This record gives sequence, C-alpha cells and structure tokens, in this order.
Amino acid sequence: MGIAQDRKVRLGVIGLGGRGRSLLRQLLEMEDVEVPAVCDLYEDRLQKGLELVAAAGRPKAEGYGDYRELLARDDIEGVLIPSSWTSHSRIAADAMRAGKYAAPEAGGAASVEECWELVRASEETGMPCMLLENCCYGREEMALLNMVKKGLFGELVHCQCGYEHDLREEVGKGLENRHYRIHNYLNRNGEVYPTHGLGPMSMLLGINRGNRMLTLTSMASKSRGLREWAGEHLGADHPLSHAEFAMGDVVTTMIKCAHGETILLTHDTTLPRPYSRAGRVQGTKGIWMEDNRSIYLEGRSPGHTWESFEPYRTEYEHPLWKEYIGLGVRGGHGGMDYLVLRAFVESVKANIPTPIDVYDTAAWMAITALSEQSVALGSQPVGIPDFTNGKWIARTPGPVHKYSLEVVDESLFG
Ligand SMILES: NC(=O)c1ccc[n+]([C@@H]2O[C@H](COP(=O)([O-])OP(=O)(O)OC[C@H]3O[C@@H](n4cnc5c(N)ncnc54)[C@H](O)[C@@H]3O)[C@@H](O)[C@H]2O)c1
Repeated sequence: MGIAQDRKVRLGVIGLGGRGRSLLRQLLEMEDVEVPAVCDLYEDRLQKGLELVAAAGRPKAEGYGDYRELLARDDIEGVLIPSSWTSHSRIAADAMRAGKYAAPEAGGAASVEECWELVRASEETGMPCMLLENCCYGREEMALLNMVKKGLFGELVHCQCGYEHDLREEVGKGLENRHYRIHNYLNRNGEVYPTHGLGPMSMLLGINRGNRMLTLTSMASKSRGLREWAGEHLGADHPLSHAEFAMGDVVTTMIKCAHGETILLTHDTTLPRPYSRAGRVQGTKGIWMEDNRSIYLEGRSPGHTWESFEPYRTEYEHPLWKEYIGLGVRGGHGGMDYLVLRAFVESVKANIPTPIDVYDTAAWMAITALSEQSVALGSQPVGIPDFTNGKWIARTPGPVHKYSLEVVDESLFG
C-alpha cells in the first residue's frame, strides 16, 4: 500500500505509556521504519520502550528523559508524540522547529494559543504536523467518506459524533497508574477529547477545505459517575471517593460551520455505557447512524424504514480498506491504527504534506479549550479561530494518494 519510493524512514517516539508502546510495537513490525531513539520522563517506561526495540531484533535504540535531546539528533526525520494531553503541542512545535515531521496523538488543547503556536511552527519551518487521528482511517468512517464523496447523502446538513466510552476504571485508577487523565478530570470541565469524532466528520464536511467551524457552545452535566465509582471500588478512605471532580459526566457541544452545517459533539466517559463514537451523518438525501448501524437513503431504502448499514459498507468499501483486507488487517483498534501510522510514514518517506495537516490539528484540538471557556461562561457561544487565516476558502488541494482524506481516487488502486 505504498505511495513512495522504497527507503527506510527514521522515527523517534516521545511518550512510552500504554499508547506509546503500542505504537512503537507497530512501527517495529514495519520493515521500512527504524526507531533509533525513544523518550519518556519515567525511567521504567523508557526501559520498557528500549526493551521492545531490542526484542524486535532491531539495532539498539538510544533512550532519552529530555525530549529536546532526542530532537537535537539530525538523523531523525519525524517523531510520534503519544505523551500527555498538556505536553503534545509544546513537543510538536519544538519538533517542527528542529526540522522534523510531528505526529501528536489524539487529545485536545488547554489553550488556543498553543494551537496557534503549532500553526506558526509549521508555516515558518515548512514541516508538517499530523494529529494521529486513527478514527479518520476507521473502516466505517472511510466507507462513509466514499459515500459522501459520491453524493449518496446529498448535501450534508448535520453531523453528530463523540467519545462515549466508560473510562471510570481507567480514570479512577489514574493516581496509582500515573495516568494524566485523572488530573484533567479533577481540574477541567469541557470537551476534553474531541478528535475521534470530529476528525472524520471534519473530513466529510470539508473543514479547512472550503468550509470551517465558526462558533460553538458547550454545556456540561453534573459530575457524579467517578466519585460514585471510586466509593464503590476504591474504598471510602480513597481520596477520589471524596474528590470534587470538575468534569461533568456528559459534555455536549454544538458547533456551527460556515456553510450552515451543525455538528453535535458528545463527551461521555464517566457513566456506565457501551462504547460508541455516536456517529450520525445527515444530508438532503439520507441519514446514517452508528448506534443501530443503520442507514436510510431516499429513493433506495424502503419508505421511512431503516436498513442495515452492512450491505452498504460492502458496496461502498473504501478502496484503501479493500486493499488492506486483501493484504491482512493488522494492529490495534480494528486495523485503523496501522493505517494512520502508514499514512504518516508514507508522507515522511515521500517528503510530502500529511493528509491530516497542521490546520486540522489546530482546529480540532482548539475545540477543547473553547469548550471549557463556553462551559465556564454558562454555555455562551465562543468563536472558533480560523487557523488557516482565510486559506480555507480556496485551499490548494493536498497530494492525492491512497491515504488522502480529501478525495477518493479509485484509479490509484490495482
Ligand atoms: N488514538 C487512540 O486510539 C489513542 C488510544 C489511547 C491513547 N491515545 C492518546 O495517546 C496519548 C498517551 O496516552 P497514554 O494512555 O499512553 O498515556 P500515559 O499517561 O499512560 O502515557 C503518556 C506518557 O507520556 C510521557 N510524557 C509526558 N510528558 C512527557 C515529556 N515532556 N517528555 C517525555 N515523555 C513525556 C509520560 O511520562 C507517560 O509515560 C494521549 O494523548 C492519548 O489521548 C490515543
């Protein structure tokens, strides 16, 4: 599934928690990737990362506690940044200023200024910054992209998306597991994890490519789930059983786009529930909904009746996924982790812009800081900056290849 001349790329990994080690394992399975350097603030996690490189039979990697030392190496072309939410932007901007492709993991920004800093670093250095939003490469999301590009939903009017994942155990054990999420939930109230939902929907709506997000308003429910869970599972003496969590259990955000579309975004991670990204795509010709895996297309579905999405996904399978299934799906999260990594690796290899760029990264991450402001202001609408400074109106299209998210070009696939 390559797009570039065959050669090896040399990447570093900064952040070796659960996610960093999972990404590192996947990189080490790629023959065209070398990982000569890894980094974490914690010595034990650094050692685990180094052990993974050795266990894969790769040349010995160098370990760093200070990411700036890793960035100072001139033999590394790009870095993955699966660190904590509040460290992504600083590291990504420094990486670009050190002449490297930057790939921060999913997460939101704590301030709008840090998003501008990403944009400035990328524009001033010419180095790309690609948020590693794996959900843009999900099988369902890519089939929908294909269907939207073929016009099956007509003109899009409304999308819904979110992160609905019962994380009470993961967040509640955060003090013991040294996990950053707990500190965010204790101190912040807003849409802290927007990109899994918003990434794919932005691609459908052409955000930063002829469209943009204009304003948002956010509302947070009361916070009960985590403290109740802590009381039942960690014991009455545990500090979290008495803690005041700032984060509402359900945070709902409405976004208005320049061409009139609305996006409903939900963050729902501290109450019991099955996993969902809460998807809904609705246009003048039909509607798709994730939770009951259903679709209705006017003129094709029986009158006013839902149909199963399954046969549609088969019919409109994205050609990248068709090829991928043929070669053997691998890696985490149903295979989309591998695809987003390959999209990054192939871009570095070909020395071209990444399919998710710095404007996408900044716009999606900024939703977190803006949502916190809106919640704090009693759901007051807040403006969403135009990180492209007007370029969204007539953007030069990005490179067209198999991993492109702007277009679906079937002719590229055998
Ligand atoms: N795309 C996905 O499906 C997915 C899944 C899980 C996690 N994530 C994202 O991956 C990131 C990491 O998640 P995690 O669960 O592994 O978190 P974690 O807290 O377990 O690990 C983060 C690691 O980053 C290190 N770190 C923080 N600041 C650093 C710095 N300045 N220099 C070097 N190392 C630093 C920490 O020491 C820690 O070991 C988060 O952004 C998370 O949202 C994405």
